[in-house]
Amino acid sequence: MPVGSSRTLAQVYRHFGEVEAAKSSPLYERVAVALSESDEALRAIEAAPARKRHPSVILAALHDLALSGRAPALAAAYAAADGDAAAGAAIDTLLRMTDSVVAIAVRRQTRTSETGHCAMLYPAIAEAARRVGATAVGLIDVGCSAGLNLNVDRVGITYSNGQSLGDPSSPVQQSSSVVGDRPIPARAMPDVVARVGVDLDPLDLTDADDARWLRACLWPDQPERIARLEAEIALAASAPPLLLRGDPVEVLPDAVARVPADALPVVTSTWALSRFPLESRLRFLHRLDEAATDRPVAWVSLEGVGVAPAIPTLGDRRASGHTIIGLAMFHASALHAEAVGRCWSQGRFLAWLADS
Ligand SMILES: C[S@@+](CC[C@H](N)C(=O)[O-])C[C@H]1O[C@@H](n2cnc3c(N)ncnc32)[C@H](O)[C@@H]1O
Repeated sequence: MPVGSSRTLAQVYRHFGEVEAAKSSPLYERVAVALSESDEALRAIEAAPARKRHPSVILAALHDLALSGRAPALAAAYAAADGDAAAGAAIDTLLRMTDSVVAIAVRRQTRTSETGHCAMLYPAIAEAARRVGATAVGLIDVGCSAGLNLNVDRVGITYSNGQSLGDPSSPVQQSSSVVGDRPIPARAMPDVVARVGVDLDPLDLTDADDARWLRACLWPDQPERIARLEAEIALAASAPPLLLRGDPVEVLPDAVARVPADALPVVTSTWALSRFPLESRLRFLHRLDEAATDRPVAWVSLEGVGVAPAIPTLGDRRASGHTIIGLAMFHASALHAEAVGRCWSQGRFLAWLADS
């Protein structure tokens, strides 16, 4: 996120500390405010390009150095949850290792890879398989980041209405609150026979640097989120997906070809398409249609209202903050697209709309 010129860098860091971090991270509150008060630290941050100066980027880069063992005093302060020591060590690390901090910030995108998407993906994928009578599916996640969506069949999901899906013994358990009376379809997903992730810059969780970066994007004093991510990393690393680097519009035919002929390719996208220009989104739709010339192809989308082309918006206002769960079935030049649900807060709340 670029740091706008209307607010000074010091104001941006103070606001981040006192407003955004204060809610859930006393450590980052203290560190961000300390950075905002240090002219030297702010000058060091200005060595990064403007779009890489945001506190979420610089703090993740510093955290990455701490986790890698290159900033031991900062690591110790974070481990001890000692705000004063962390503030001092963060400034010291930033001044001593400005080039390293900037290099990490430039190389990496911050990842929020929040999990919990499976509560929406699972029933929609199972529904796609039901519609064409598929007994196996191949998952292709577009804008996959670390590919955590590709484990959708290997997690346990519980819903607030007492329903559950997936593997109840999985080390990764997710939950969602159901809004409204309509139940979630209870059907189990067929076997997953291929897992393919596509991203401009995918994170490979079997690579120590990539996995560390995902950890670094979490705030150091949020043990529950850290524990959840560790479980997700372990689960993903036990059956790593095939990662394809590139523009999904270009890579999609290759990705679909990786799915065995007797399985239904199910393309998923979660909060990814808003990053694509509209013209790319339309070409993506066209590519899905082309891929379905000889076999059915499904697309399950969790995208903001009006972001996923062809998926109905149900009359909801664009940019209203919630997400439409889309299901599009392509086969032999026919497209059937519908909105099967809505979710809020990245899936903490979910309303299922389709008949099951
Ligand atoms: C907001 S993140 C969503 C990540 C993940 N799907 C999730 O739900 O947590 C957007 C992802 O899309 C990727 N991305 C952005 N533009 C892209 C493009 N043109 N082609 C492929 N991936 C892209 C980014 O690298 C990033 O991983």
